[in-house]
Amino acid sequence: MGEDKGYALATGESGAYRLQILNAIHQPYTEFLMQRVGLKEGMRVADIGCGTGNVSFMMASIVGQSGSVSGVDMSEAQLDIARSQVAVLNLKNVEFTCGSAYDTKLPKEFFDIVYCRFLLMHLHHPVNALVEMRSLLKPGGLLVCEEADFSTAFCEPSFSAHDRCYEMLIALALERGSNFCMGTILYQHFQDAGFSTREMSFVQPVAIRPESKRLVDLSMKEALSAVIEAGLATPEEMKQTITQLKVLASDETTIFGIARVTQIWARK
Ligand SMILES: C[S@@+](CC[C@H](N)C(=O)[O-])C[C@H]1O[C@@H](n2cnc3c(N)ncnc32)[C@H](O)[C@@H]1O
Repeated sequence: MGEDKGYALATGESGAYRLQILNAIHQPYTEFLMQRVGLKEGMRVADIGCGTGNVSFMMASIVGQSGSVSGVDMSEAQLDIARSQVAVLNLKNVEFTCGSAYDTKLPKEFFDIVYCRFLLMHLHHPVNALVEMRSLLKPGGLLVCEEADFSTAFCEPSFSAHDRCYEMLIALALERGSNFCMGTILYQHFQDAGFSTREMSFVQPVAIRPESKRLVDLSMKEALSAVIEAGLATPEEMKQTITQLKVLASDETTIFGIARVTQIWARK
């Protein structure tokens, strides 16, 4: 089996601001999804590829002291930030461990809900990660995933720098053996991981305010070295694209359609 080429974006302090913007955009939809699938007090939850822990904290507030959240990420830099928040918030029901989505080392058949957001799109073998996540669920437990489809992002009115940015990110993922256009394919991936019955929906947030629209130039900036190394753009083109995207973000007459998110869940 081919190896993952690793996470192409920034981790730790340099990526935390982008993840904060990302979370501000997606949190309302994630919260609604968690209500819809029945996350409640007392549940045991795992958040795989938890990053700096934004969703883990939201879920911890719902499951309360009688429940627990176990976050796993392969980046210690992301987890350092997550753990510093645990200390600040004095949370007793969340813990974070460093590990791979393919082999989390979490207890098997233990969790009521296993969740991941914007993780599978970075992986070379998403089905293998789903099989691992399935193994963590108690019989009857729910696997819940949210992944993005970059081919659906848009700018209105349209601007070439915006479209070029997504074109480069999609090509970068392909070059690395991952998939930034994870839409309907997730339905098949869930079946391949052993789930026969699945529920699915799409959400597409729209960014209007400049601070939300910064998500796009910050993502491009984080991918800069990987895009250049892959020969997908010159440093000059990257510099120009990032500058144009920044100007576009502050232009109050444009709106950004953030990449549509596939929400999918299934019971073991
Ligand atoms: C885009 S971030 C999403 C973070 C978080 N789920 C959220 O929505 O805010 C993707 C995260 O997946 C982690 N990651 C990537 N590949 C991984 C792997 N094979 N195993 C565990 N974590 C991984 C990265 O370190 C990063 O923190």
